[in-house]
Amino acid sequence: NVWHVQQAADDQLREELKEAAGSLKEGGLVAFPTETVYGLGADARSTAAVEKIFTAKGRPSDNPLIVHIADRTQLDELVLPYPQLAKALMDRFWPGPLTIVLPVRASALSPLVTAGLATVGIRMPDHRTALALLREAGCPVAAPSANRSGRPSPTTARHVLEDLEGRIDGIVDDGATGVGLESTVIELIGEHAIRILRPGGVTREALQQAAPRASIDSASAAELEAVPRSPGMKYTHYAPQGELELVQGEPEAVTAYIHRQTRAARQRGELTGVLAFEERLAGYEADCLLSLGSEDGLEEAAHLLYAALRDFDAAGVQRIWAECCSEQGIGAALMNRMAKAAGDRIVRL
Ligand code: TXA
Ligand code: MG
Repeated sequence: NVWHVQQAADDQLREELKEAAGSLKEGGLVAFPTETVYGLGADARSTAAVEKIFTAKGRPSDNPLIVHIADRTQLDELVLPYPQLAKALMDRFWPGPLTIVLPVRASALSPLVTAGLATVGIRMPDHRTALALLREAGCPVAAPSANRSGRPSPTTARHVLEDLEGRIDGIVDDGATGVGLESTVIELIGEHAIRILRPGGVTREALQQAAPRASIDSASAAELEAVPRSPGMKYTHYAPQGELELVQGEPEAVTAYIHRQTRAARQRGELTGVLAFEERLAGYEADCLLSLGSEDGLEEAAHLLYAALRDFDAAGVQRIWAECCSEQGIGAALMNRMAKAAGDRIVRL
């Protein structure tokens, strides 16, 4: 089942989503768009339904799922009392790409959703179709990104079908997502500290502005590894099939390095790919040359990244080199996902 809703007027949307919502209510698996990436949804209260998510994705069961809500009134039955700071962040960023880890109310959700943790990550997506579907379904919806585990997250309905056709009950198609990278996941330590478990659509700078007195830190790789705070971060993610290497340094040095590498690889008969910003794109030679847009607007790069990784796969390239970018704003999330896709292979010139 593919439900196309791109043409639907806002007031028709819930009607058009009745079947998709019905499928969720009956324990089905429905992929749907959000402002970040497409999610693979199931009724978060039903273990039978949530189990299907893990099977369809091939996802390790110690990796907890984010619960999506359409309305703040849904929160009370899902979580225990939480810091005032969380309320302030919800006021500022919901609906939006911010997942807040909160203490879970026992038996409100299937234990598979939390993977045995005492907490649950909750978010309210800023997307008309996601919100309409959640309202129509009337239940909290657990949804990881709608890709096979280890593949780049899907930013179009076609990406979802590439990975999951035949494994899910349906998909709501409302075109490409906006941000293009997943939500920011945070936990709160008391009233005055925020820890970023996964950088994403809401930037550190925006969090700091909304909570000027809070201290903000990012969990280190070692911390994420040791404590299952954000278990998802420890698995290989977003990886293209070709071997990706990131190249960091002065622009001239980066260009020269990538040049030498692609030339040598092509002489060995390998299919090559380059992922670069528009400013220098024309200077490269590769079998598959893809643009991240301009360096001056990293939102565009965030929007393009996952589709580009999939395009490299489709082109069958074996070696890929990518330029790095600033880690300001959305650049932090972008570099985080690129480093993961590269399995942390970063050349510093
Ligand atoms: O933008 C998004 O967040 C997308 C869309 C579909 O909403 N969803 C998404 O879900 O990216 P997923 O499952 O691919 O990533 C969820 C992340 C993982 O890194 C997971 O470990 C972390 O959130 N997470 C979930 N619950 C958690 C918890 N209770 N404590 C710490 N981390 C948690
Ligand atoms: Mg994911």
